[in-house]
Amino acid sequence: MPGPLPRPSASDRPADPHVPVLIDAILRECAPVAGVWLDGTLGAGGYARALLAAGAERVIGVDRDPLALRMAADWAAPYGDRVRLVAGTFSDLDQLAGEALDGVVLDLGVSSMQLDQAERGFSFMKDGPLDMRMSQSGDSAADLVNTAAEAVLADILYHYGEERASRRIAHAIVAARGVEPIVTTARLAEIVAKCLPRPKPGQSHPATRSFQAIRIAVNAEFEELAEGLMAAERALKPGGLLAVVTFHSLEDRIVKRFFQLASGQEANANRYAPARADTEARFEMVTRKAVAPDDAEIARNPRARSAKLRVGRRTQAPARAIAPADLGLPEFQKKGRR
Ligand SMILES: C[S@@+](CC[C@H](N)C(=O)[O-])C[C@H]1O[C@@H](n2cnc3c(N)ncnc32)[C@H](O)[C@@H]1O
Repeated sequence: MPGPLPRPSASDRPADPHVPVLIDAILRECAPVAGVWLDGTLGAGGYARALLAAGAERVIGVDRDPLALRMAADWAAPYGDRVRLVAGTFSDLDQLAGEALDGVVLDLGVSSMQLDQAERGFSFMKDGPLDMRMSQSGDSAADLVNTAAEAVLADILYHYGEERASRRIAHAIVAARGVEPIVTTARLAEIVAKCLPRPKPGQSHPATRSFQAIRIAVNAEFEELAEGLMAAERALKPGGLLAVVTFHSLEDRIVKRFFQLASGQEANANRYAPARADTEARFEMVTRKAVAPDDAEIARNPRARSAKLRVGRRTQAPARAIAPADLGLPEFQKKGRR
């Protein structure tokens, strides 16, 4: 357990707190909430507090962002021993928990606090240093953009952002950094925008896909997700619940595939495919299809519009590893980034 965490300073405190997404659906699908839960993406603690209010005995709150943990020191104090705060990544959640769990919840991606603070460098809407590191340590987006080979940049943009102009943008980035290093979000957004047609009214900013791709690469988000799902499988008690909220189709595809493989649905998915040996179900699906927010939630919180929730219940079957490629992680990652 980490020592006492410093309180957030006034400049730490974001103006716009994070609004929890799909929390009512999570509580409904996971009812009755009980026992020990691990929230692997603590953020502003919206899920953790809702789980405690719904009947969780204790919550272990994990986040890789020191700001989330500093903020949590404030709101968690009244809960005493019912909340344990842990700095780390959810790929290690079984080790970080150190006990068998009744539930695990993952709310993927970045929080509003991260997105809205220009100095974190996640947003093309606000000029700031080209950073994007959730953990505030390791290589930044500027390190990646200024040193990665052109082909690697193109692969990142294509595979993590589904950017069809990936090669053109990677070429423009390499040309621009040859003149001077790219160190701000505004400069990167400008380089990307020049490679693409001007957006029509109602279309997203041209840099949306590139920023998503670079953020995913900087934070190794897909490797984290694959490892985190398997760590949850190891940590959950029989009957324990795994609830995952995704925000784009690439994430959702990995989660859907994981649950298909781990719940034995894969065997029926394609009748021409060879039977798989690992069909002993480690999860039973609680949600038959992904649950999406209703119109009222989207009106209240537009950031919820692309969210999807999937929930599975752990069986007695022993945990098994799944190869990242079987979850659909792009193969190019194996070649390394530089
Ligand atoms: C969408 S926010 C979670 C918001 C939270 N559910 C709430 O209601 O306030 C995602 C949080 O997860 C954290 N995060 C993302 N990936 C992580 C990982 N692999 N390990 C630990 N924390 C992670 C981010 O730093 C961010 O604070």
